[in-house]
Amino acid sequence: MAGVTVRQVTSADLPHLEERWPVPGDVHAAHLRAQEHAAATFLVAWSGDEPLGSAKVQWGGPVGAAARDAYPEAVEVNHLQVREEHRGRGVGTAIIAAAEELCLARGRRQVAVGVGLENDGAARLYERLGYRRTGAVDTSEYDWVDADGTVHHEVEQDELLVRAL
Ligand SMILES: CC(C)(COP(=O)(O)OP(=O)(O)OC[C@H]1O[C@@H](n2cnc3c(N)ncnc32)[C@H](O)[C@@H]1OP(=O)(O)O)[C@@H](O)C(=O)NCCC(=O)NCCS
Repeated sequence: MAGVTVRQVTSADLPHLEERWPVPGDVHAAHLRAQEHAAATFLVAWSGDEPLGSAKVQWGGPVGAAARDAYPEAVEVNHLQVREEHRGRGVGTAIIAAAEELCLARGRRQVAVGVGLENDGAARLYERLGYRRTGAVDTSEYDWVDADGTVHHEVEQDELLVRAL
């Protein structure tokens, strides 16, 4: 995508990333910590020095138990999000393409994403990119903090979609 680069975040990027894209709950730092333990690669899409979106490429297999049982060898791309004002312009597609390139470079040919059963928009995007539904569904529970500091508890059912590269 013209003018957009997707690259691995370094600890030197963190202060700038947090300033330009404040996310409650210390999420950027948590992704970076996972990367420092070699469990994941934290990708951010940039237009110049403006962060547009991000994802985590998780090397050790899917997080959900059903997904992990069915596809233990898959690399899972999770926490994909594009900032609201930058959606619909190919940034998500560019992040997925970068994640797939990383997988190929490491000789990993099976890529997976967990998509909320209600998240038709994201499922449409993945299916267009060649991901196929697997029927492996996991329940995930997580807390997130909104801009007012209110903690929200979410329970979500995610289906694993998989692509062979
Ligand atoms: C899903 C998401 C990452 C897509 O990023 P994006 O940069 O808008 O994606 P692209 O521009 O490459 O592709 C556009 C496609 O994304 C999907 N999409 C989902 N939600 C969308 C939204 N709010 N705005 C635009 N596209 C959206 C659609 O399939 C769209 O294709 P369409 O125009 O044919 O309907 C982004 O909408 C997002 O961050 N959503 C909230 C978090 C989320 O659902 N993450 C996915 C978890 S599996």
